[in-house]
Amino acid sequence: FMVDKANYRHFMAKEIHEQPEVVGHTLARYVDMASERISLPTELPFDFNDVQRISIAACGTASLAGFVAKYWFERFARLPVEVDVASEFRYREAPVRKGDLAIFISQSGETADTLAALRYAKAEGMHTLAVVNVPTSTIARESETVMPTLAGPEIGVASTKAFTCQLMTLAALAVAAGKARGVLSDADEAKLVHGLVEIPRLMTEALTHEHEIEKLARDIAKSKDVLYLGRGTSYPLALEGALKLKEISYIHAEGYAAGELKHGPIALIDETMPVVVIAPYDKVFDKTVSNMQEVAARGGRIILMTDAKGAEEATVDSMVTIVMPDMSAAFTPLVYAVPVQLLAYHTAVVMGTDVDQPRNLAKSVTVE
Ligand code: G6P
Repeated sequence: FMVDKANYRHFMAKEIHEQPEVVGHTLARYVDMASERISLPTELPFDFNDVQRISIAACGTASLAGFVAKYWFERFARLPVEVDVASEFRYREAPVRKGDLAIFISQSGETADTLAALRYAKAEGMHTLAVVNVPTSTIARESETVMPTLAGPEIGVASTKAFTCQLMTLAALAVAAGKARGVLSDADEAKLVHGLVEIPRLMTEALTHEHEIEKLARDIAKSKDVLYLGRGTSYPLALEGALKLKEISYIHAEGYAAGELKHGPIALIDETMPVVVIAPYDKVFDKTVSNMQEVAARGGRIILMTDAKGAEEATVDSMVTIVMPDMSAAFTPLVYAVPVQLLAYHTAVVMGTDVDQPRNLAKSVTVE
């Protein structure tokens, strides 16, 4: 069927704005709102107590959703997780354990490397679970368990709503794993689920910062390089921010774990370098502030994405502070994804690139 841009200039803008709605659909699929419990529609063909390690393989943005999920599985379920880009997983001949769980994440469900990684895991006797947006896809068909992300058709080559729906799906699965393994109590589960239920509303709130971000984008568009920093789950989101910006604006960008700043990227910092710091007020906030001080001391221009408490506590002058709503620290990537996507989008619009079909990229990479 036909998908149109409605009143938006690009599919990407429409898809960014659809997120509260589609993430809400995904939430409703995996959470019982009334009882505030996770409820997976299908029974899993394995017991999380028999799983010793999870392997996640995917490409591009989907692999970064997997990287966020690693933090969740490890925290909520005390389950070690290995994340790989599928092209490495398939050829590395990673030693895997029969009966362990392999998760494959893909919007299209057709990415050649992800499919090959799935076939490898299957041949090794792993349980396979696919988080896919196209339920009729090859990856969905060949996986033992399928958890659909209900993002609807995504047209913009740079993934946005599929990413946040992947995050929602994986968050629900990680909480389910924690519950099954007895790491989370009923009360912990209820609290986490409550945090998830809030997400669509918080995403709507995050979208209200669009005008501010549009103004900021005019400045970013003048840069040659942009650095993104984050700790904890904000680290993979920093990687996603950099990926999004380079994909559609063609401005060179790098994402780094904030703690790695002094092991390399700090050498690049001068007055011309914008540094996007993703730092909700969480357990590692103070550590990120000290990294911001290191950036500020070298004249770097800080764009801080934080919440009201973080804005108050940050003892560093930022060029711009984007204040996100207060929320449960566990699931911040779902909400902070919004300003990160908007910044890439508006920068690309200023640059005049073909936002929905950036040069050299394809929506679905079915060849190696
Ligand atoms: C391409 C797209 C990306 C996407 C990646 C993985 O590179 O441009 O947006 O993240 O493929 O695609 P998949 O369909 O497997 O999620």
